[in-house]
Amino acid sequence: MNPSEAFDWDAMATMLERRAELRTPFLTAALDWLGGLAPAGAGRVLDVGSGPGVVTCLLAHRFPGARVTAVDGAPAQLERVRDRAAGQGLAERVDTHRADLPAGFATLDPADVVWAGQVVHHLGDQQAALAALARTLRPGGVLAIVEGGLTQRFLPRDFGLGRPGFQARLEAAEEDWFASMRTALPGSAAVVEDWPALLSGAGLVPTGSRTFLTDLPAPLGGAARQVLRDHLARRREHMAEQLAPEDRKTLDHLLDDDSPAGILRRPDAFYLEAQTVHTARAALPS
Ligand SMILES: C[S@@+](CC[C@H](N)C(=O)[O-])C[C@H]1O[C@@H](n2cnc3c(N)ncnc32)[C@H](O)[C@@H]1O
Repeated sequence: MNPSEAFDWDAMATMLERRAELRTPFLTAALDWLGGLAPAGAGRVLDVGSGPGVVTCLLAHRFPGARVTAVDGAPAQLERVRDRAAGQGLAERVDTHRADLPAGFATLDPADVVWAGQVVHHLGDQQAALAALARTLRPGGVLAIVEGGLTQRFLPRDFGLGRPGFQARLEAAEEDWFASMRTALPGSAAVVEDWPALLSGAGLVPTGSRTFLTDLPAPLGGAARQVLRDHLARRREHMAEQLAPEDRKTLDHLLDDDSPAGILRRPDAFYLEAQTVHTARAALPS
């Protein structure tokens, strides 16, 4: 499949919601840090590329005096945001705004805090996207982007199926797929992904990068197993051709829900992932 056709964001709402819920400890820690960087009394917060709104609602809890707007291009994701906010008693302070980026950047209201989690890399010109995000900040406002880190590991190097090192080879296939995905984006521009430098290039003052772990040891509960199953099923759908036949067989075995060696049932599965949050501030007028 052409990588540009791989994202039916509306259809991915459940998957993204499960994954973000699993990451709640990381997100809560990151938002605590962000709270210390944000201007006192922040009244307007944007969650750009919000997905189903797990972070939107966490932002609303972290900034109790703020109106929080979830911005996304996918209507089904925004519907989830509204349901989630209502379920948490946040409907008065959380709203949604549909915008196709990058054109939709021009429709965003100025904010004191802007969070953009794993969305900048879905836009062709990442430097231009950061410049547009920077323009949405009020003076002294803070931008946080989640980019980079380490893809999750979830099994020992040798887990008794196929050749050891399966996850490293899966990641290599993913890197190639990711590169093709980026090349196929409208307005795709290659850039050195030095995020603090890109934030400076967008006219902001970097205020630090921190990496947060999601570290769930074996034996995993059902929610984490389901997130891993989603992860593997997506790779089976989009990257199978890049894998050697033996690794495809391993992937199929992990996706066999009836097998004790499948990811839903095996005892050795864990979840270890690192995500990096880069922050920067808009200058105050001198
Ligand atoms: C990888 S998901 C991240 C969701 C959420 N921020 C999180 O970290 O869980 C990317 C989100 O950005 C949205 N998105 C991707 N490209 C977009 C575009 N060009 N315009 C608007 N939204 C876009 C998708 O609909 C999706 O909800």
